[in-house]
Amino acid sequence: MCGIVGYVGSRDAGQVLISGLRKLEYRGYDSAGVAAIHGGAVQMCRAVGKLDNLVEALADSPLPGTIGIGHTRWATHGKPSEENAHPHRAGNVVVIHNGIIENYLGLRDELTAGGSQLTSETDTEVISHLIEREMSSGKDLAEATRAAIGRLEGSFAIAVLSALEPGRLVAAKNATPVVIGVGENENFIASDIPALLEYTRDVLFLEDGEMASITADEVSVQTFDGEVVEREVRRVTWDPVTAQKGGHKHFLIKEIHEQPQVLIDTMRGRLSQERGEVVLPELAGLESKIASMKRVTLVACGTAWHAALVGKYLIERFSRLPVEVDYGSEYRYRDPVLDEHSLMVLVSQSGETADTLAALAAARERGTPVVAICNVVDSSIARKADMVLYTRAGPEISVASTKAFTTQLTALYLLGLYLGRRVGHLTAADEAGFVQELVHLPQLAERCLKAEKDITVAARGLAEASDMLYLGRGINYPIALEGALKLKEISYIHAEGYPAGEMKHGPIALIDEHMPVVVLIPKDEVYEKTLTNLREVESRGGRIIAVTDDAGDELRDVAETIIEIPSASSFLTPLLLTIPLQLLAYYVAVARGTDVDQPRNLAKSVTVE
Ligand code: AGP
Repeated sequence: MCGIVGYVGSRDAGQVLISGLRKLEYRGYDSAGVAAIHGGAVQMCRAVGKLDNLVEALADSPLPGTIGIGHTRWATHGKPSEENAHPHRAGNVVVIHNGIIENYLGLRDELTAGGSQLTSETDTEVISHLIEREMSSGKDLAEATRAAIGRLEGSFAIAVLSALEPGRLVAAKNATPVVIGVGENENFIASDIPALLEYTRDVLFLEDGEMASITADEVSVQTFDGEVVEREVRRVTWDPVTAQKGGHKHFLIKEIHEQPQVLIDTMRGRLSQERGEVVLPELAGLESKIASMKRVTLVACGTAWHAALVGKYLIERFSRLPVEVDYGSEYRYRDPVLDEHSLMVLVSQSGETADTLAALAAARERGTPVVAICNVVDSSIARKADMVLYTRAGPEISVASTKAFTTQLTALYLLGLYLGRRVGHLTAADEAGFVQELVHLPQLAERCLKAEKDITVAARGLAEASDMLYLGRGINYPIALEGALKLKEISYIHAEGYPAGEMKHGPIALIDEHMPVVVLIPKDEVYEKTLTNLREVESRGGRIIAVTDDAGDELRDVAETIIEIPSASSFLTPLLLTIPLQLLAYYVAVARGTDVDQPRNLAKSVTVE
């Protein structure tokens, strides 16, 4: 998630911008930049890396002026570089942007054909040129911005300045947050409240489809269609640290709640509803290899390995290509069977996990194409792979992975459909049906979050447990593993995930009244068999927490707690079952008072063996 800040008033804009960007550093970024208007001219300064690099650059060439915009970039299109850093400029116009412009390539071609010189790899740069072109035709800054955003498809929170209107700042919002800070003869904008609190606690939020024209003395809000909007100013009472977590107590619970939005972001531009197709231009390099592809190897670690296990089910179901899954730490010493007819898929949030990266070497030696599913743009694995399918979860601050996991599942779903269609196993109608299911996934995920209150109650009853079992079958067995990992890594309770059918082969010896058992039991083709497992547990005094999409009487007879999720395709259920397990782990950990965001002994990215 990029960070945007803007200021207009009588203070030193450069200082206000840097201070605001520092309060947004928690969002993660790889470059930064500021721009100001002074003496009828635009001045800009950008730097790769941390804000200190930008401050150092500014020390050499200070930014004068009392109106400016600033940005911390979390790369989505184009590597981290000064050229790709924001603000982006076209003539007298400078723009900063948080979001994803889906149709930027077409706009880029149109602008270039019209003589515009675009120099970056970003989607954002097209916005500055569109606005500049509109202003050149005689529109003022607000009208030019309105006309330009009418051409954009995708998500955007933008702030725009022009040397032709030195006292005015224009902002616009679609699907990505913009908050306006209202001061005394000064006004601010930001992606998030923390950037404003040093100067004002009076804020107003833009809604989707709204833009604001801001001077030192006035904030006027309109819809993209020009209708005036009266928006009340609200008083923020949060302390700065709470504000960084969006009012949540921890980053982990904030990131759990971000999942519906990041699922939308991850699928943005990759589902063509009208054609009923999955659209993955990032994998164009695979097209010529798919016909001769004989197998797929998924390599990952930890939570990403659990995503890969679900990926095996999805890819085999959609393409009938055999899929093997391995831990990076095991794979690297296995002298694997790979050749040019294999496909390696590396799944990694950070893109820096040493054990996963090591697998890539094996593929290189054997001429095997490598696709990476990563969350961090230009990370080591992303750079070294042949193709990258980025999840767009935004920075995941909490060590325990949540939104990265569900976006990995989504990316694997898209990959499976993409392969299935191209190997000829899925018909166009099949693909269209699955695409339609995916369109509803974010709101299904939103509905899973509604079980939060019930889960906080269940969690209190589990906080004293010393051991827990998680059971699942089929495509949901990996989710039992993931639920167990979430619990153990943040609450320090020993937890194991097992295939439910394995209980009679040993684990049932563990069952007594002290052993809570979380069972994933959607109403699918193995429901009755899993119910039998539950009855075996209940008859031995085990405590059952059932997660299901159909809470019938037979379940109520055996389960101490029932957590409900919405019914959905069996291919989407793993993702939906995950969310209650994330919430359960979180509230058990909170009840136990552990360091939820930074659990003991753990690192966010394991960059060593
Ligand atoms: C998951 O909650 C853990 N933080 C850990 O298992 C993590 O998934 C694993 O280290 C892999 O990291 P990666 O996705 O960045 O490669």
